[in-house]
Amino acid sequence: MTRTPVTVTVTGAAGQIGYALLFRIASGQLLGADVPVTLRLLEIPQGLKAAEGTAMELDDCAFPLLQGIDISDDPNVAFDGANVALLVGARPRTKGMERGDLLEANGGIFKPQGKAINDHAADDIKVLVVGNPANTNALIAQAAAPDVPAERFTAMTRLDHNRALSQLSKKTGAPVSEIKKLTIWGNHSATQYPDVFHAEVAGKNAAEVVNDEQWLADTFIPTVAKRGAAIIEARGASSAASAANAAIDHVYTWVNGTAAGDWTSAGVVSDGSYGVPQGLISSFPVTAKDGKFEIVQGLDVNEFSRTRIDASVKELEEEREAVRNLGLI
Ligand code: NAD
Ligand code: LMR
Repeated sequence: MTRTPVTVTVTGAAGQIGYALLFRIASGQLLGADVPVTLRLLEIPQGLKAAEGTAMELDDCAFPLLQGIDISDDPNVAFDGANVALLVGARPRTKGMERGDLLEANGGIFKPQGKAINDHAADDIKVLVVGNPANTNALIAQAAAPDVPAERFTAMTRLDHNRALSQLSKKTGAPVSEIKKLTIWGNHSATQYPDVFHAEVAGKNAAEVVNDEQWLADTFIPTVAKRGAAIIEARGASSAASAANAAIDHVYTWVNGTAAGDWTSAGVVSDGSYGVPQGLISSFPVTAKDGKFEIVQGLDVNEFSRTRIDASVKELEEEREAVRNLGLI
């Protein structure tokens, strides 16, 4: 193998998403079937033994692309030379915890990780934050990494995007492969807005194909936005394989680009487009080319969409204010 391996750091490696993610990275699905990878696993001390067990299983797969696995509980070690960082490990909300407590607990994780990325990652580092609250955790990490271009920090809304594709496919009977240009706007939370007004189903405008605003408002949007909670209710645990799949999709697209005539959704730093305050990490319609995401410009935003985008962005602004007041950004 002549290509230099790409170093991929995964935090929360011993968790359920980690378990669904690592084998797919090592098999070449994250970056491409010809790209060798070195894995760096970051866990808290209590998670190290389980991470070692996962590393043993990775060894046992004898993946031709996997060049090495390092495990650490020190972010400075785990992010050393990282080209791609998947920040999955986060503090889940537990009983009696207020939103502010959750933001503070996660600040204690994402601020030092952002600093470690700033100080030790490779110059081309790309960061995807999966751990919730993903958008604001990404903002905290980004603020702690002033030497890294802000646009290298992204938050995952690809799972929401994929959920929306699937629901629209079921409604219209069109295969997922024929649905293009869907958008998730805003926060990865129940306020997110899955938008079909610019989407196409087999080349026709999706909103016209559906032709049912009540279904959009009362079924489609809440089904997509509350899917995470529905999975927790059904499975007794939050989504893991679908979340790992979306993380793979997000990074693969970021590195290898979007198809002509299509876009995807990702939480990226706002440049003020569509009235989203600059600096917020909010989900937008994005294309990817040459390893860069770009926000799709020039879309008309109708009244139905405007209200919903604004509501989700308002929540992101409140989260930003809360972490600012906690001194996390
Ligand atoms: P999990 O509890 O199974 O695993 C989390 C792992 O992170 C644990 O092994 C824990 O030890 C580790 N961890 C905690 N703090 C850490 C730290 N400071 N450094 C390194 N590792 C640390 O959780 P999971 O099901 O794998 O989910 C992980 C996160 O992803 C959660 O916050 C969840 O809400 C979120 N999530 C996001 C999306 C999305 O679409 N953005 C979807 C699903 C889940
Ligand atoms: C999801 O969308 O499945 C998760 O973000 C839900 C959660 O709270 O972990």
